[in-house]
Amino acid sequence: RTAPAVIVAIDGPSGTGKSSTSKAVAAQLGLSYLDTGAQYRAITWWMVSNGIDITDPTAIAAVAGKPEIVSGTDPSAPAISVDGTDVAGPIRTQEVTSKVSAVSAVPEVRARITELQRSIAAGAEDGIVVEGRDIGTTVLPDADLKIFLTASPEARAARRSGELKGADVRATREALLKRDAADSSRKTSPLAKADDAVEVDTSDLTLQQVIECVVTLVEEKRAAE
Ligand code: DC
Repeated sequence: RTAPAVIVAIDGPSGTGKSSTSKAVAAQLGLSYLDTGAQYRAITWWMVSNGIDITDPTAIAAVAGKPEIVSGTDPSAPAISVDGTDVAGPIRTQEVTSKVSAVSAVPEVRARITELQRSIAAGAEDGIVVEGRDIGTTVLPDADLKIFLTASPEARAARRSGELKGADVRATREALLKRDAADSSRKTSPLAKADDAVEVDTSDLTLQQVIECVVTLVEEKRAAE
C-alpha cells in the first residue's frame, strides 16, 4: 500500500537547524515542504517596500490583506514570491530580519498567513513538512507528528554566524535572543512547544543526526497508522 499523507510540524527558535532539517526530511521522504518564516519575511518585505510604518500595528493591520504571497513547496527548490516578484533573496536581508518580529506579531497578519498555511497543507496530497514557530500549537494542531527543536544559545549563535560568514558571534547572539524573546512573548500564537510535541535538543548533534532522528520518528508514525 502507499504510505498515507503525513503532516509533520517542526517548530523551534532560530539557529536550531530547523530549516535545514525540515528541507532534508521532506526531500528524503518525498513530502512537500513549507517554510512559514519565509511567508512572514515576505509580508514584512512588502510592508518595508511600501513605506508602511512598522512600529504602527494599526497601519500594518490595515494593509495585511493586500500582498499576494505565493509559496513553492518543493524542498529542493524553495520559492517565494510577492505579487509575482521573486523575493527569496530580499527576505533574508538584515533589514527584514530585524523587522519581521514586529510585523508577525500583528493578529491580522497572523490570521492571513495562517489561513494560507492551512490551505497549502490541505492541498499537499503526499504529505508535508511545515516549519515555523506556532505550527504544532495553532496552525496545524492535528498534525500527525510534532517536533520541537531546541539548542543552547551558544550553539544557535555559532550556527547563525557561520551561515552569515564572518559575522560577529556576540552580536549575532544578541540579535537572535532578542528576536526569540519577541517571538515567544507576543500575545497572538507565540513560539511555544505543543504539549504533544517531541522535543529534540540539537546542541550536541550534527545536522545529519538530527535529520535521521526526525526521519525515524516520521517512519515510526507511518508504521503505526
Ligand atoms: O524562521 P525564520 O527566522 O525565517 O522566521 C522569521 C520570523 O517569522 C520569526 O522571527 C518569527 C516569525 N514567524 C512566526 O511568527 N511564526 C511562524 N510560524 C514562523 C515565523
